[in-house]
Amino acid sequence: MAYIDKPRFHKPAHPARTKPPVKDPLLEPSTQVPRLALCRSSAVPEDAPPLQSHAQAGIEMQESAANDDAERLRQQREQLAWLDKARVALHKTLPLLGIRVQATQVSALARHPAVNGLVFRSRRSKHINPDPCGEDAVRVLQLGVEDASVLSPEARAAISEVHGEIISHPVELPYDYWTVEQVLRAVLPTELEEGAPSAFAMVGHLAHVNLREEYLAYRYLIGQVILEKTPRVRTVVNKLDSIETEFRVFAMELLAGVPEYEAEVSESNCVFQLDFHNVYWNSRLHTEHGRLIAQFQPFQVLADVMAGVGPFAVPAAKKGAWVLANDLNPHCYASLQKNSTRNHVDAHLQATCLDGREFIRYSVLATWNAAYPGEPTGNELMSARQKRKEKSAQRRAQQEGTAPADSVPQAPAPSTPKPQRRLVDHFVMNLPATALEFLDAYRGLYTHLASHVGRDALDAEIEARSGQDDVEPLPMVHVHCFTKDVEHAASDICQRANAALGLTGPERLVPPGDEASDPTPDLSLHLVRSVAPSKDMYCLSFRLPRSVLFA
Ligand SMILES: C[S@@+](CC[C@H](N)C(=O)[O-])C[C@H]1O[C@@H](n2cnc3c(N)ncnc32)[C@H](O)[C@@H]1O
Repeated sequence: MAYIDKPRFHKPAHPARTKPPVKDPLLEPSTQVPRLALCRSSAVPEDAPPLQSHAQAGIEMQESAANDDAERLRQQREQLAWLDKARVALHKTLPLLGIRVQATQVSALARHPAVNGLVFRSRRSKHINPDPCGEDAVRVLQLGVEDASVLSPEARAAISEVHGEIISHPVELPYDYWTVEQVLRAVLPTELEEGAPSAFAMVGHLAHVNLREEYLAYRYLIGQVILEKTPRVRTVVNKLDSIETEFRVFAMELLAGVPEYEAEVSESNCVFQLDFHNVYWNSRLHTEHGRLIAQFQPFQVLADVMAGVGPFAVPAAKKGAWVLANDLNPHCYASLQKNSTRNHVDAHLQATCLDGREFIRYSVLATWNAAYPGEPTGNELMSARQKRKEKSAQRRAQQEGTAPADSVPQAPAPSTPKPQRRLVDHFVMNLPATALEFLDAYRGLYTHLASHVGRDALDAEIEARSGQDDVEPLPMVHVHCFTKDVEHAASDICQRANAALGLTGPERLVPPGDEASDPTPDLSLHLVRSVAPSKDMYCLSFRLPRSVLFA
């Protein structure tokens, strides 16, 4: 089983410290966990092609459970009863042999070249065990063979050299021993073995699966196995429809565990609280979030047009950027506010709940009016812990007489004060299904701004930025999108972007790799991930041309 989310405090082990996984050579599921033939839904007709009949029955069962609580409980009871039987059937006793030998000799015997390969090593059971007869100075070396006749003459000689005694020493493997994959392979009907659900995504304590139709007749059983065998999981849900809604959320059915959808996840050194029923979250995007966050500099201004619960916005604010974060979904807006406070970035993040186009106009005017400082003004971004540390360092300095009693730590005074930030540096638009269409909102954006703040003032501001080293005169846009033209992704995406921006001729965005035209400066196209065999997700980054902003 693979899952996607990483544990909250996951720290990758140093390769030198990573033990190679212990193999279970003797526990091949097909031999030691034979198919149990315990679960075959009576709803699955026998006389139809197997996969089709499972799928048909599964769809009908899911539909009837959705409208009828009693029917859902009946299906749950039936499937959990199969699992109860499987728990008993999967408690295995392997009739193996062991060698009784003096404790002082046992390790050397286990390493002996003629014996080493016969030792039973498995994930859970120990290969050196106490003596069943209770003698303190004696141990039993567990072998993985059932019959002493398979021992080679060399192995026998090594055993008798240390006065070892071959005894019957069975190994117990309880239900808990087996992995999700092994249990599912054992309990599901033969025709479902190939492609059995082998991956689920994690969002905090929630595991969500996306079961194919032929597994729906066994969904509560599958959910319960995942729940029991995955320590962090408290809730297992199955996605019910594709994610085509405006707010990118999907309907789900609870398969196992508690109906708790408020999850807590950590990413980019921030903690996010979210209501998984009502907001979008995709742990697969964490690399993309990190890639863009790395491009935002402290005191730059970021306008996140479709911010969700804040995976770009909150970490960017934590880095010291000034962030305007927006989402049309009121649940995301509520989460954004919570996550801003939770991560102590309220001083750098302002949340709104507007339509993306309206927000783009709003954000440039709000930034102009805010005139954000271009340098540190105090310790507003310090965490409570940092502040405590700062205070105790100050107290210590006072006690030691190295600081005056009323001293307050001061940031070193900069030689030339940095100018205020009145213009947005980056727009992020992560709504891949339609964000390219929203690019029309940049047409005439600065003409509109100039109508409020004056054209001369705006021109002077843009001009002044040319001389600064940490800002560019005009903003970057990072827009996410899908393409189904995977072979010609660059030209497809740039053509759609140009259409929305109203760009033609030499000003148009030139797709990377188009050798017939001069490349567009500062333009890049990044493949984020393949979402389906013929559907890729990209991020197009480009600097907004003056002709678009003043259209
Ligand atoms: C794919 S999610 C991305 C969220 C977040 N940026 C992330 O990376 O997880 C797209 C977000 O766009 C929001 N959205 C959809 N239509 C919108 C609109 N017209 N204006 C603003 N936000 C919108 C959805 O509510 C959703 O949270």
